[in-house]
Amino acid sequence: MTSLKDIRAQFLEFFASRDHFVAPSAPLVPQNDPTLLFVNAGMVPFKNVFTGVETRDYKRAASSQKCVRAGGKHNDLDNVGYTARHHTFFEMLGNFSFGDYFKDGAIENAWDLVHRQFGLPAEKLTVTVYHTDDEAFDLWRKISGLPESRIIRIATSDNFWAMGDTGPCGPCSEIFYDHGEHIPGGPPGSPDEDGDRFVEIWNLVFMQYEKHGDGSQTDLPKPSIDTGMGLERIAAVLQGVHDNYDVDLFRTLIAASVDLTGRKAEGADAPAHRVIADHLRATSFLIADGVAPSNEGRGYVLRRIMRRAMRYAHQLGVRDPLLARLAPLLVREMGGAFPELGRAEPLIVETLKSEEEKFRSLLDRGLKLLDEETENLPAGAALPGAAAFKLYDTYGFPLDLTQDALRREGREVDVEGFDAAMKAQREAARRLGGVGRRRR
Ligand code: ALA
Repeated sequence: MTSLKDIRAQFLEFFASRDHFVAPSAPLVPQNDPTLLFVNAGMVPFKNVFTGVETRDYKRAASSQKCVRAGGKHNDLDNVGYTARHHTFFEMLGNFSFGDYFKDGAIENAWDLVHRQFGLPAEKLTVTVYHTDDEAFDLWRKISGLPESRIIRIATSDNFWAMGDTGPCGPCSEIFYDHGEHIPGGPPGSPDEDGDRFVEIWNLVFMQYEKHGDGSQTDLPKPSIDTGMGLERIAAVLQGVHDNYDVDLFRTLIAASVDLTGRKAEGADAPAHRVIADHLRATSFLIADGVAPSNEGRGYVLRRIMRRAMRYAHQLGVRDPLLARLAPLLVREMGGAFPELGRAEPLIVETLKSEEEKFRSLLDRGLKLLDEETENLPAGAALPGAAAFKLYDTYGFPLDLTQDALRREGREVDVEGFDAAMKAQREAARRLGGVGRRRR
């Protein structure tokens, strides 16, 4: 079996042998982009190179970029644990051309890697192109020899990638792997495309334009290439499993979580172990990159991720810090590729331990209150906003933690009521603050 580590190395070596500069992953906290909470794609550190604001002494690069999608526009937090492919932290493998090769080079490289090097059979692969992109369609025909029926034209924004409301963008072409007939789902563009059978493994973006704040769009200085392949997804494909959480690294982390908790990763307990493994990665990498838990901004996202993991650990019957005990294993597994993890190990362990200890008694009491609040509610009725607010305000339960805790009962939270309670408290605080100031 090819390990996740080997796949990362193979990807980078493949592009190094094709004259790409292998760039180390940039930190998760964006260095040049105040609009973004965390780096959430491989191209983010290169944004200014695409737009021509910055130049580098190379025109081709490849990286395995650390990404976090929790909080902000791309927020996968609530899905983690319950699906085969959502993560808060993941790695995006990518190759980039800054005004060097364009569509032909991108498609050639991609086909050589997935088909020739990784050995994925052509009949398992389907690609999409933007509906008007005849050039990409023809290049796929010529380079891969795929039948026209498996080069699908897509007219939606799925095949036009944009970094956000502003920034570089362009039409894109995606490569899908067919996990087989036994899994429900249809090819991209079909009514049941959202099934799990055809999984997107690689997105090739033909960067051509830049969107500006006033809504206008200009050409980039030179047509460029940005690609993104989720390391955990391609690892699942190459390891012959359908679920990202079955790849080697996650198996190792989950086995350790099973050991420490004494609860098998089966049935109702399975999501908890997945959440713990995923959130352990996100929190450790965020701490290594200088984020500290707090009540606002990035620090609050970190705290939400940690507390969510702690609630699941609690559900497994654990009362002692669990993430802190798992962190050294993560450092052993991933510290080779990311030396910052090793350097930050003492800080990671300490931060996790102190957060876990601090939250433990609040969690116990808060969950008890939650039980009392829901006991007398009719089945399926939403939790009143005031109760959710009390959990937030008194017990440090982020709203999404309360929502998640009620999920198994099929109950929602009255979010409007929660927002209203929050607003009322802020106004009261402001009034008190005003009184205080007058007194001084
Ligand atoms: N930037 C592209 C993506 O995130 C490759 O999908």
